[in-house]
This record gives sequence, C-alpha cells and structure tokens, in this order.
Amino acid sequence: MSSLITVDDLTNEEILSILDDAERMLPIARGETHLPILAGKVLANLFFEPSTRTRMSFETAMKRLGGAVLNLGDVANSSVVKGETLYDTMQMMDGYADIAVIRHPRQGAARYSSNAVNIPVINAGDGAGHHPTQTLLDLFTIRTCHGTLEGLNVALVGDLRYGRTVHSLSEALARFGCSLTFISPSSLTMPEEIVTDLRSSGTSITETEDLHGSIEQLDVIYMTRIQKERFPDEDEYQKVAGVFKLNQSDLVSAKKNMIIMHPLPRVDEISPDVDSTVHAKYFEQAFYGVVARMSLLCRLLGVEVPEVVSE
Ligand code: NCD
Repeated sequence: MSSLITVDDLTNEEILSILDDAERMLPIARGETHLPILAGKVLANLFFEPSTRTRMSFETAMKRLGGAVLNLGDVANSSVVKGETLYDTMQMMDGYADIAVIRHPRQGAARYSSNAVNIPVINAGDGAGHHPTQTLLDLFTIRTCHGTLEGLNVALVGDLRYGRTVHSLSEALARFGCSLTFISPSSLTMPEEIVTDLRSSGTSITETEDLHGSIEQLDVIYMTRIQKERFPDEDEYQKVAGVFKLNQSDLVSAKKNMIIMHPLPRVDEISPDVDSTVHAKYFEQAFYGVVARMSLLCRLLGVEVPEVVSE
C-alpha cells in the first residue's frame, strides 16, 4: 500500500496489523509516554471541506510522534481562489511534505491527487465517495468493545446515499463476515452498486426504513448525519431532516453490550440522554481516531512501531 484511497487498498491482514499497532500506541495518544518515531517527517493537511476530528486527529497523531504538520488552511486564503487546479496544488506537495492527507468535496479527488504526486496520499473523505481512515477507527472501536470484528450484526443508519463513512465501513465489515442492516429513508438508500457488490460476495444485507424493529438483535448501531451539504436543494433536505432519532427509551430491548457509534458531528440523530448509557461509544470512537491515524502514518511512511511501554 503506497496510498490509502479506499479500503480496497488494504488487505484484511493489513487492517488487523494497523489495528494492533494502533492499540500499542494508546499510551502515546494519551500523552503518557513519548515516542518521536516520526521526527523529521512532515505531513501536509489539505482540507478543501470542513473538518474538526479528522484534521485535528491527524495533526495530533503526527505531533505526538514527533512529526510536523503543514496546513493548507482556509481554502479562501490559498491559491485555489486564484484558479489554481487541484493537480497543480498537489504537485507542490512532493517538495513540501513526506505524506499528504486530502479532503475534497469532489468524489474521486483523492485518487486524482495521488496520481499527481510521488508521496503517499491519504483520502480523508472525497465527496460522497469514501472515508477509509474513519473506517480504521470505526473498526478499532468495534474490536475494542466486542473483542472481534467477525460475524457481528451491524446496523448502519441515516444517510446511506451521501454518507461516505458508511460506504467504506460497510465494505470492510462485509469482509469480516458481519451481517448488515441498512436503515435509511427510501430516498437515501445505500448506492445500488455497493449493495450488489456486497450481496454478490455473500454478505447478508437487510434494507429497511424501520430503526426500532430490530434493536434487540444488534451488536452495533452506527448512526449518521443527513449530509445536508450534498443535497441539490434545501427542500429535499427538509423532507428527510430529523427522520431518525435514537432516544434512551428506545434502548430498553438492546443487548447489554450493544454499542452506539457515530462518526460525528451529530445534529439530532442521537438524543443527549443516550450519552450517559453504557451503549454510547461515539466520543471514545473519536479519540481512537488518533491511534488509528498514528498507526496508518507509520505504515505509509515505512516506520516500524516498536513495543510501547508506558513511562
Ligand atoms: C464525517 C465525514 O466527514 O464524512 N465526519 C468525520 O470525518 N468524522 C461524517 C459527517 O460529516 O457526517
């Protein structure tokens, strides 16, 4: 793997090995120990779309390992407003950084960017396409909470059409033999080509509009935000806004170890009264983004992760 554009760039063995390294890096992410194995390396953070967690967790991952970070910053203050093409902007990166992270509103932009440079490129979200590093931290969370990735019952809920996190995650979970329930409004179902692909590889898939019907069978409920910014017009968004909401009272029939995840930001999909339940894992999940990304950065930069011992 020289770049990470979709989860297809990783084998299951590579995914598990990234998660193993990530686990060993927890003390570094917590600031309990220092391991500057990326000293002298420079990461370029190129975010052409808003981001809080992904951008900041890449930055803290790099810095906790002794590396440095360059930020493109506000696109409005870059040469993009002068009409520079993405291809040209990317070509500079070979001279400025050792690795680049890109988020862009256009599907396919990360693949396109990786063709413009020699350094590794990491897709941090390309429009309604893919978000493979979110998948790594999602898998890390699931494995930490359930002890395995194999054979779980996972529901993906919300905007499955435009949500890139669920596109990447469903493909990875299917490869680990999970059964998937896709819960969405009929206008926001999982893209047909993904459903067909997953079914043809033997994955059990149920598609429904009913969030509350199957809660007692689930090991994971993965909630997502309706991707307002991808709707062609506001009226279409209003028709589906707020359609799914998880409240504490919905969880009475849930298994004790069922976990609720969310890539965040949440809008109104999960009521704050869920936060105090044993099921809520979304903030822990966001923290795991740091170790998942530390581990990935080391892998792509060819730096081996030593055994980590707390100080
Ligand atoms: C997600 C994204 O950008 O796709 N956010 C994230 O990276 N944690 C989800 C979203 O914006 O809804």
